[in-house]
Amino acid sequence: MRVAVIGTGHVGLVVAACLAHVGHDVVGMDDDAPTIAQLSRGEMPLYEPALAPLVASSRAAGRLALTTDLRAAIRGRQVAFICVSTPVLPDGRPDLSAVEATARRIAAAEPRDLLIVEKSTGPTNTAAWIERTLAIYGGPGAREVEVASSPEFLRRGSAVHDCLHPDRLVVGVKSARAAQRLRDLYAPILEGRIACPFHEPCVAAVPPPFVATSFQCAELIKHASDAFLAMKVSFINAVADFCERVGADVLQVAEGIGLDPRIGPSFLQAGLGFGGSCFAKDTLAFLRLAEEQGVDLGLVREAHQINRRRVQVAVEKLRRALWVLRGKRIGLLGLAFKPHTDDVREAPALALAARLIQEGAEVVGYDPQAGGAARAALPSLSLADDPYSLAQGAESLVLVTEWPEFLALDWGRLKQGMRRPVMLDGRNALDREKLVAEGFEYLGMGR
Ligand code: UDX
Repeated sequence: MRVAVIGTGHVGLVVAACLAHVGHDVVGMDDDAPTIAQLSRGEMPLYEPALAPLVASSRAAGRLALTTDLRAAIRGRQVAFICVSTPVLPDGRPDLSAVEATARRIAAAEPRDLLIVEKSTGPTNTAAWIERTLAIYGGPGAREVEVASSPEFLRRGSAVHDCLHPDRLVVGVKSARAAQRLRDLYAPILEGRIACPFHEPCVAAVPPPFVATSFQCAELIKHASDAFLAMKVSFINAVADFCERVGADVLQVAEGIGLDPRIGPSFLQAGLGFGGSCFAKDTLAFLRLAEEQGVDLGLVREAHQINRRRVQVAVEKLRRALWVLRGKRIGLLGLAFKPHTDDVREAPALALAARLIQEGAEVVGYDPQAGGAARAALPSLSLADDPYSLAQGAESLVLVTEWPEFLALDWGRLKQGMRRPVMLDGRNALDREKLVAEGFEYLGMGR
């Protein structure tokens, strides 16, 4: 099928590359000329595993074009995805101005026989508003234009895998025709016949279910999924604090809870809490929207507050271990909000660094991918070239992001350079026994 993807940020680029990979003829459009120029030169504007080879092979096969011209991008296309960003406003609501502007520009281009698919995470009624916007601003030439919602569930760091092998494909539609077009578009993914280049060989265990529902339900499925996962993380973090008080180990408690199939083992990893643009932004937006509707989502609000307190819990642990923080060198292992990404939005590392700097500590960070982004977000943060130079002269290290390379460091070498071998394992990811045997003073989160 002939597909346009408007907005080539993280979601848009993954969607464009994956749809081209499964055989569609895709054009990626973005107003940001430097990003399009960079992609056209074969360079990636962001780090996402397996994405660069997918973009390159799709480009080489002639199935992924790039442009800054929206009108040209949608001409002759059957499906146009809106993947523009929806940043959070100071009051917590999402800023939908880019979505509206895109809908108006599509309307002005007088498309014919086009299904416009909302992929940007918008609140309930975003798809309905796009539909209304097209009706208001559409020219007389616009014909057979329909709107659908197809929320994304792409995790940073495994987005290519999640796009090609989703757990479910949810679409919000108003007609059987729109549902059928999306079923045709997603057919190679629904049939589970695409090998995922993320970790070879990776084929879908079971073909994903196709959930065709209303606009509102599709949009709510996205919001409620994120909110539920955020609540799960905050729940185990609250339990972790309790574990510490009574001498229990949250790892064992989480394992025991997760064996109940009604609960499941995933998203029960206690630590510094969730970061990333999605959970923080979308759950906050969900809360604000619920408030507007007079619905009290207190559970979600509490999950937010618990998450916000995680950094303070870590600061207090460091204070108990080091007594005075002023003037002490503290090294942060990991700056990205999770491994396998260079994304630092809402990253606990930034909040922790800012708090420690405020206390007068000398904070140094190292991350395999996110150093530049972290430094841009927090200029007072110093960067080290590798974990061993990070440890030089440090009174404590904090594992903030559980990159696989941090789990296999040479602990003896690391300890040698440190002033005091205090290790705060902010993700409960390290081998406690091994570190203690190496002479580290190990601090966990809820252990
Ligand atoms: C999330 C959703 O999972 C995805 O479906 C949505 O489309 C985008 O947002 P993402 O934010 O990329 O994906 O990462 P995810 O793996 O969900 O982790 C989010 C945060 O929660 C990370 O900071 C992670 O470290 C933290 N987390 C996750 C925990 O602290 N404990 C856990 O047990 C799981």
